[in-house]
Amino acid sequence: MQDIKKYVDQHKDRFIDELIELLKVPSISADSAYKQDVLNTAEAVKTRLEEAGCDLVEVCETKGYPIVYGEKIIDKNLPTVLVYGHYDVQPPDPLDLWNSPPFEPVIKKTDLHPEGAIFARGACDDKGQMYMHVKALELMTKTDQLPCNVKFMIEGEEEVGSESLGDFLKENREKLSNDVILISDTGMIAIDVPSITTGLRGLSYVEVEVTGPNRDLHSGLYGGAVANPINVLSKMIASLHDENNHITIPGFYDKVENLSAEERAEMAKAPFSLENYKKALDIDAVYGEAGYSTNERNSIRPTLDVNGIWGGYIGEGAKTVIASKAYAKISMRLVPNQDWEEITQLFKKHFESIAPEGVKVLVKPHHGGQGYVTPITSVGYQAASKAYADTFGKTPIPQRSGGSIPIVSLFEQELKSKTILMGFGLDSDAIHSPNEHFGVWNYLKGIETIPLFYKYFTELSK
Ligand code: BES
Ligand code: MN
Ligand code: MN
Repeated sequence: MQDIKKYVDQHKDRFIDELIELLKVPSISADSAYKQDVLNTAEAVKTRLEEAGCDLVEVCETKGYPIVYGEKIIDKNLPTVLVYGHYDVQPPDPLDLWNSPPFEPVIKKTDLHPEGAIFARGACDDKGQMYMHVKALELMTKTDQLPCNVKFMIEGEEEVGSESLGDFLKENREKLSNDVILISDTGMIAIDVPSITTGLRGLSYVEVEVTGPNRDLHSGLYGGAVANPINVLSKMIASLHDENNHITIPGFYDKVENLSAEERAEMAKAPFSLENYKKALDIDAVYGEAGYSTNERNSIRPTLDVNGIWGGYIGEGAKTVIASKAYAKISMRLVPNQDWEEITQLFKKHFESIAPEGVKVLVKPHHGGQGYVTPITSVGYQAASKAYADTFGKTPIPQRSGGSIPIVSLFEQELKSKTILMGFGLDSDAIHSPNEHFGVWNYLKGIETIPLFYKYFTELSK
């Protein structure tokens, strides 16, 4: 472990500079204007993997953005770790809320990151966390301590639903065969409270369109006499939760697993301050489903949220108008056993059924994925736990996260292997928000911890 720390210390400035270079390229998968930047980033990841010691690296074409595959096979009889990550990033808008441009990385100190954090879109999600694995490989090859085989699969469509990944898995089962999948694309409880993510929520994402009259109307001449699509949509959306903030879609909770009192008590042991939580968000109260704590609401319970809503006049001043159409984008976070396609259908049926006369409703499913839970008894979990114990001096806490990485359940289905989620970000790192950042300390700690995972995984697999 001493030589790992030494290597990281000696090379940390370069590790940071290299990440900064990657962060300068706006690899925004959602916006086709950035297509060339996304493709360039795939090429850059290929070069970095070669430099870090992979023997074979390929940029694999798909229907969408390419998947970068790399490998270093040292002995077919040893275990194989498959690292997954993504090189695409979320769009940076709203741009005016960034304190520095999203693709001009800067290092600044914050209260939670006294040693500095790198501010840029993708710093934490996921270029920074993905690159920890590339540097961990460099460290292991350069210091001659890679104990097993390693494969990399770094995709460019995670933020838009990983559409090409399913086919890629099906077509490359042999190539991707592995003993464990390792991902750093989640978070940890706090800098001094290491945790391993043992669950992810599923997702169903839909867009709805409500159409009233065939054109925008004068709100005086017609107001009160025809259905206003925006009024109607607001009412319909409001009715999706009852007074206890339960979701009202029939059948929605049918498959939700109820945790035992013991499991909930175990969860409640994780350190959490409601006061700090509220303070960090400038809110005077939390809000959510009756009967559940904040940490339960954002991990083991399903949700329904409007992500965007639009229609009518939103320009300067006032325009008296009844819009012809109103729209909303809605996400449902799901828990294990809820099937995302089934939930999408339940939503569609219900939403169509609650439309009043005088409007037409269209529900367009976007994308989705299944949730995931993994036991803490697996060899992979135990190896990760020992690795954190060495570098943080504490046993990590298992924690179910509210976010989604839909491909994790796909991996289990197609490749029959368990995923270990070693996240080093903090919830306050502002992923998907303006001023996303990743602590330099976290980044380097990740590079230090990952080689120990390989070591313990290989030892415990014997
Ligand atoms: N890395 C995140 C997911 C995440 C973040 C999980 C923090 C747990 C903790 C990932 O890039 C992401 O943003 N996923 C999307 C879903 C995807 C289908 C677009 C999400 O959770 O909204
Ligand atoms: Mn991510
Ligand atoms: Mn993301």
